[in-house]
Amino acid sequence: MSDSWPYPRWIAHRGAGQLAPENTLAAFRLGASFGYRMFECDVKLSADGVPFLLHDASLDRTSNGQGLAAELNWDALSRLDAGSWHSPQYAGEPLANLEAVAHFCLDKALALNIEIKPTPGAESLTGAVVANVVARLWAEAPQGTLPLLSSFQPDALEAARAAQSHLPRALLLDALQTGWLETALQLGCVAVVCQHTQWDAVSVRQAQNAGLRVLSYTVNESSAVDRLWALGTDGIITDRVDLFSAPS
Ligand code: G3P
Ligand code: MG
Repeated sequence: MSDSWPYPRWIAHRGAGQLAPENTLAAFRLGASFGYRMFECDVKLSADGVPFLLHDASLDRTSNGQGLAAELNWDALSRLDAGSWHSPQYAGEPLANLEAVAHFCLDKALALNIEIKPTPGAESLTGAVVANVVARLWAEAPQGTLPLLSSFQPDALEAARAAQSHLPRALLLDALQTGWLETALQLGCVAVVCQHTQWDAVSVRQAQNAGLRVLSYTVNESSAVDRLWALGTDGIITDRVDLFSAPS
């Protein structure tokens, strides 16, 4: 296992969990106000190929738009309200594109975990475009401060590697199904990020003995946090930036 893991142990899920509209700059600002130094976000492509932050394929749940986000150009997406659905205080908060998030993080020396969350059917394109945009935006960044690219979609990770092989990658899993370790190694990943209840002493040791870091999502209870640190895992993604504040 590499000694030079550059990332904080605590990662704020979608910016600030559920305390602010997910995947917006308002959420990043709130997460940072609780002391978070690393953020997870979900990134997909607009119709004109701009990487931007949105969890669902559809706009309906987290904006005042409707239908598939991937069918709109960034210019139209950028005029949507991605805050009112959450609470009146965030009315008018826009969707964020990856470039704006990069500037926010680079300005404040914050780390980023970009979950490549392709619209179905756009896995390889999304992986390649996100990797190329990250390489451009972080071109001047110091060594060890590059975003960690993660995905549930092996095709997206493979395309990211083909486009920009130097960017660190992590395989996302909701279960440790047969072949999980081999898949992560074949993709040249530096980490596996799994739903937290899946990890046990054996699987953590398997991953770490193979040179991979072990991270977990989405961990919102102290008892689960204690279990994961006792297992020797390397990172936790949480919604509860208020409960686990000012983390190391
Ligand atoms: O990246 C970890 C976590 O965000 C994966 O699940 O659905 O919250 O994107 P989801
Ligand atoms: Mg995510």
